[in-house]
Amino acid sequence: MADTYILGIESSCDETAAAVVRSGEQVVSNVVFSQFATHGPYGGVVPELASREHLRAIVPVVRQALEDAHQTYQSVDALAVTQGPGLAGALLVGISYAKALAFALEKPLIAVNHLEGHIHAVLLEERQKGNRELAFPVLALVVSGGHTHLYLANQRNQGWSYENVGHTRDDAAGEAFDKVAKLLGLGYPGGPVIDKLARFGDAGAVKFPLSQIKHPDRREKDAPQKGGPRNIDFSYSGIKTSVLRYVETHDMRSSIEARQRALSATKPSIEELRASCDRQTLDLVASFQRAMVNDLVQKTLTAAREFEAATLFVTGGVAANQELRQTFEDRAAREGLPVYFPSRPLSTDNAAMIAAAAYPKFVSGDFSNRELSAEASLRLK
Ligand code: KG4
Ligand code: ZN
Repeated sequence: MADTYILGIESSCDETAAAVVRSGEQVVSNVVFSQFATHGPYGGVVPELASREHLRAIVPVVRQALEDAHQTYQSVDALAVTQGPGLAGALLVGISYAKALAFALEKPLIAVNHLEGHIHAVLLEERQKGNRELAFPVLALVVSGGHTHLYLANQRNQGWSYENVGHTRDDAAGEAFDKVAKLLGLGYPGGPVIDKLARFGDAGAVKFPLSQIKHPDRREKDAPQKGGPRNIDFSYSGIKTSVLRYVETHDMRSSIEARQRALSATKPSIEELRASCDRQTLDLVASFQRAMVNDLVQKTLTAAREFEAATLFVTGGVAANQELRQTFEDRAAREGLPVYFPSRPLSTDNAAMIAAAAYPKFVSGDFSNRELSAEASLRLK
């Protein structure tokens, strides 16, 4: 088959992204416009502002992705766009634009699930490195600001199938990083800051009890039968409350407020943030991260055993975390399980993963029609 160039568009949360990917295996261009500056002062994503920023950014971001790829609107073979899950208003910006382009250019339009995109970020880069020898089933941990999900992924003919075998009952792991960073006056998004600051603290200083939920969620219609492998549940709202309690019982409020005042004007560097943190804060940050990492790794490896996974993928924004990668590498190696991560730029939201996930659908002719609309709670099957 001749080379296929797919233009991917992603606008599900606070990144406006466009990319061109060749035949699901080579990133030709990858442009990401992050809205951190807009949402930073609020300590989290403000949906109305996200839609407004996507509207402003989408045309220049797509143009840039085409220019970087030496492609034109006419030369690409198909368009791919994130259908969900995500913020409805934000998704609609990408979908409306992609639909209009596909209609005007008479090109096929392919709808992609954002979570499938995160899984294909790993596949794309492994193919790019020449690795086509993955063992199945793959167990994928998709861990981001909106999701903490485990999927068993299998390749069927040209397409892919996914089975959800674990999810968070409350907050996503990235959400816990963001909320704890906000609580400690460390800014938004919290994950990258905590990742860097944790290196300077003692991870054994504070003990956090994490949830031990392992039984199947009865609300799930597709929960496995009695005696079969058990779904794994995560829960991260408790640890945020534990951090809050620690802050209160250790009188850390005034130093947090002082940091918030000092750092509110500009986006501080890591050196400035580190200088603004006393030992107690650095220890708390390191201990929080250690607890999150241990829980994510332990539960994922439990699922890998339950479902007899042959390969592990760890993907989504939190997969950029240094300690998480290291711990997964060490512990998976002990179990003889190969583990793959996307590069850091493809861990967080991007459109290359959307264009890559669209390729098998292009090959099988799985195209969208003009009725395509945003699905904020779209499930991955
Ligand atoms: O995948 P992503 O860009 O967007 C969603 O689909 O949610 O993930 C963003 C999340 C944020 O919560 C952010 O704090 C977290 O990923 N994150 C990290 C790191 N980089 C981003 N969390 C921990 N360590 C990091 N290095
Ligand atoms: Zn994401």
